[in-house]
Amino acid sequence: MPRYAKAKAHANIALAKYWGKSDKELNLPAVPSLSLTLDAFWTETSVHFDPKLSQDSCLLNGEPARDRELARIQDLLDRVRTQMKEPCFAHIKSKNNFPTASGLASSASGFAALAAATSKAAGLPCDFETLSALARQSSASAARSIYGAFVELAVGIPGDYQLAAQPLQNQKPWKICMLVASLGYERKALSSTEAMQHSKHSSPYYSAWIENAPLYYQRVREGVLKNDLQQVGEAMEQSTFAMHACMLASIPRVLFWKPATVAVLDALRALREQAQVPAWCTMDAGPHVKILCEPQHSETVANHLHAIPGVETIFHCGPGPALSFLEES
Ligand code: PMV
Repeated sequence: MPRYAKAKAHANIALAKYWGKSDKELNLPAVPSLSLTLDAFWTETSVHFDPKLSQDSCLLNGEPARDRELARIQDLLDRVRTQMKEPCFAHIKSKNNFPTASGLASSASGFAALAAATSKAAGLPCDFETLSALARQSSASAARSIYGAFVELAVGIPGDYQLAAQPLQNQKPWKICMLVASLGYERKALSSTEAMQHSKHSSPYYSAWIENAPLYYQRVREGVLKNDLQQVGEAMEQSTFAMHACMLASIPRVLFWKPATVAVLDALRALREQAQVPAWCTMDAGPHVKILCEPQHSETVANHLHAIPGVETIFHCGPGPALSFLEES
């Protein structure tokens, strides 16, 4: 029986955002989401089940995982172990080629790669649907990182532990570019799960978000199917700002933005309205701004934003591939 496996998954950024859970235990999303898997950001994870080990251990980017990280990893391992004939502890090694836990979607690629490597090492089925459902229970956005390019994740009906993401059907290849303007690499104080539960329980705008998010998703979806950047961009910005407004109205407020975030948003709008450069933004639970544009405009946008104080790096990303398994190295 195989005991070792290694997998590689790419991060994704939602164009139509997921925020809020319909079932906390099973980690089911309360709204549908649609994402773009990114070629430039990935996680590689190896899992080795070893009967000689007396506990699980995990190295993330060469450092022992922190307690909270290890607890989330063990949660996934435990779900897999319940299906193993001879369960035992595991040693995990994981490496990101981009900053971890700072709002750049490392939990998406991280849990997708972990779900795949753990299932394979345990000798369990590794079809993408099963892996996506397993990853989703740890991080809903991770369900989308099993697939490449444009991916959607439906609303979860409470109790549906098999909910998985799906590649967007009938998508035309679209050479779109996502620029990631990184505003520093500090770890975020609040995880996405903590922040979304907090907005669910204290934001008066949470119900408005739940009501409107499916409309933004529909518009993003139609726009992607038509390769219509303006439609996608406008709906993506609505989805983003409605999600952040919902967080901001929480008590106490949740605000991931920095002054440079606002400077980037203003500069991007000026570029679009005054210089007619078609580019739109999205943001997650972090200060960074991600910009969607055609490849022929990416240098102009990047040069313009790079000049803003507080912008550290601009990463250029395109549509990325689905999950893959790697040989032992
Ligand atoms: O999957 P989580 O728990 O990391 O939450 C992701 C939440 C957002 O990144 C803000 C939105 C999304 O759809 O990815």
